Amino acid sequence: MRITQDSINQILQAADIVEVVGDFVSLKKRGANYAALSPFTNEKTPSFYVSPSKGIFKCFSTGKGGDALKFVMEVDKLTYVEALKYLAKKYAIEVQYDKTEFSDAEKEAQSEKDSLFIILEHTKNYYKNILLSHPDGMAIGKSYFIERGLNDKTIAEFELGFALDSWDGLLNEPITKQFNQDLLAKAGVIKISENGKKFDFFRNRVMFPIHNITGKTIALAGRILGSDKGTAKYINSPETELYVKNQVLYGLFQAKQSIRNQDNCLLVEGYMDVLSLYQAGITNAVASSGTSLTEGQIKLIARYTKNVIVLYDGDKAGIKAAIRGTDMLLDSGLNIKVLVFPDGDDPDSFVNKVGATAFIEYLTKNAKDFITFKTEVLLQDSANDPLKKGEVIHEIINSIAKIKDEIQRSLYFRKCSQLLEIDEQVIVSEYNKIKLGEAKKQQEKAQNLEETLHIDIENKIVTDVFARTDSNEIAEREIIRILLEYADVQIEEQTLIQIMFSYLQNITFEDPIYAKIIEIFKLELAQNQLPTLDYFMKYPDVTIEERLINILTSKHELSNLWYDKYQIYITPKDNDKMILMNKSLARLNFEKFKKRNRDNQLKLNKLSDAETEEINALLDENIELKKYLQIYAKELGIVISG
Ligand code: UTP
Ligand code: MN
Repeated sequence: MRITQDSINQILQAADIVEVVGDFVSLKKRGANYAALSPFTNEKTPSFYVSPSKGIFKCFSTGKGGDALKFVMEVDKLTYVEALKYLAKKYAIEVQYDKTEFSDAEKEAQSEKDSLFIILEHTKNYYKNILLSHPDGMAIGKSYFIERGLNDKTIAEFELGFALDSWDGLLNEPITKQFNQDLLAKAGVIKISENGKKFDFFRNRVMFPIHNITGKTIALAGRILGSDKGTAKYINSPETELYVKNQVLYGLFQAKQSIRNQDNCLLVEGYMDVLSLYQAGITNAVASSGTSLTEGQIKLIARYTKNVIVLYDGDKAGIKAAIRGTDMLLDSGLNIKVLVFPDGDDPDSFVNKVGATAFIEYLTKNAKDFITFKTEVLLQDSANDPLKKGEVIHEIINSIAKIKDEIQRSLYFRKCSQLLEIDEQVIVSEYNKIKLGEAKKQQEKAQNLEETLHIDIENKIVTDVFARTDSNEIAEREIIRILLEYADVQIEEQTLIQIMFSYLQNITFEDPIYAKIIEIFKLELAQNQLPTLDYFMKYPDVTIEERLINILTSKHELSNLWYDKYQIYITPKDNDKMILMNKSLARLNFEKFKKRNRDNQLKLNKLSDAETEEINALLDENIELKKYLQIYAKELGIVISG
């Protein structure tokens, strides 16, 4: 059945783009718009924008854009109808359906995706019913799960099943026969041999359905009953439109509420780990299913919590390989702890051995923050080998560099300097080198972004995106940028910074960080020194460093922005520093005068007609300000009205 047009309209009207997107990414206000790290790529500088006034989003990294509905479809890989239902649920709107049936054309147009959903739902139910009511299912399948300690409730909640030791059990099911056989093969539940013979894919295995976050079955995994070394222990149905392995976490559907409530997620390796923990009441565990963690999986977790504990099986060999993969978690801004079990144990065997209380006790006592853990593991085999130790130090600092929180980062500098037995200052300066390297790379990336922006310049949202930054902030930022890049450029008898400062004398920078940078320049200059970029990067106040990286990477966006708003085009290659400086100063002055003019206007609005003296003074000042504004506007090539 079809959702009525009225219903669709109602849903679309209710869907607030900021609220909808805000459920998936953390939005920061930028002027009239919002910015965020794109949920579609793994980026470090935001290129994802939301315009509430237009009700749309735009991702400059991937080119994706559209309304709230489109966003939900993209981010959750939902169909149009699924996305509508999702929004309806979010806004508690009752969905109205057309009473008429599908037309033939519509039936045909039913996507393959929907058919796959139906096939997997059917297959899951088939295996589930065998486990619960077929004599072999109960005697073999259910006994297996019970032997492994699972009870009826867990079996039901995870919809576990059993595939009989038969080549055509599923195949000969009456319902199975009604489906398109090629789609059954595509879904991976049957196989078709070269001579066209069909047979069941899963045979004599206990079955674990894999659900998406809305609880629909998107794939199946089957485990052999014993420990036959000759066959794969687990086999999985293949990747399809529904099942993209690296975007799925086993157990997330059942765990998500608990993860949110506890604000913590346990990340385990296996299906059985999730099940045993869940049954023990530890309901916030999900499994990466044996593969190393992917960005897609991290994003999934990050929607529910920022705190992750990675639980490693207790085999030494795996750990070293695993910790490297875990660096990715740091990149994502999550807080990560690590827990290793005693040799030979995994979360499943351990919780069955000691029980939930002792398990949690063990976890609380032994979970280490990731950096400390990594340092300790890597140091173990670099003892007495200075060369190796050098590598370890470098690797650890690289990991710390990925931590977004400054306070946390500086705590790790201290902690690791103790663990590694080297001076904290050495770590910090090594860190700064890494950051500078990154800043350069981002600058290159920004250039690509600029090209995208140019292509999109006709697109309305671009102007809207530009409007997000306060123009005074831009003017101040531009001055700082020029100082950072060209302070020591010689212009006749003087350096650029000397000239610049003679103009800046009576100007107050409003942005506290920019003001501080100017102050530092002044102090250093008074002692005949010129602070270098490196000097700022090492400055004890880390907010400065972060802002500088921002400035250095915002360059191209800035020149576009100026072009768009004021038709000034500053190419990155512009080597006429003097022109550049003059224009920036004009811009800054223009902004300052504009602000004074605006402030006066506000004051005027508040005065009563009787206060003639004050009114006249303000009006006089405004006339004076307008004169200056005209001068600077002319220099900038802007036409101002009134
Ligand atoms: P484990 O070998 O640790 O399995 O693999 P397990 O979950 O502890 O299973 P039990 O306790 O022996 O029953 C961890 C995960 O790796 C994937 C599965 O997702 C498994 O849960 N895996 C493992 C496979 O996909 N195929 C395999 O052959 C083995
Ligand atoms: Mn196990």
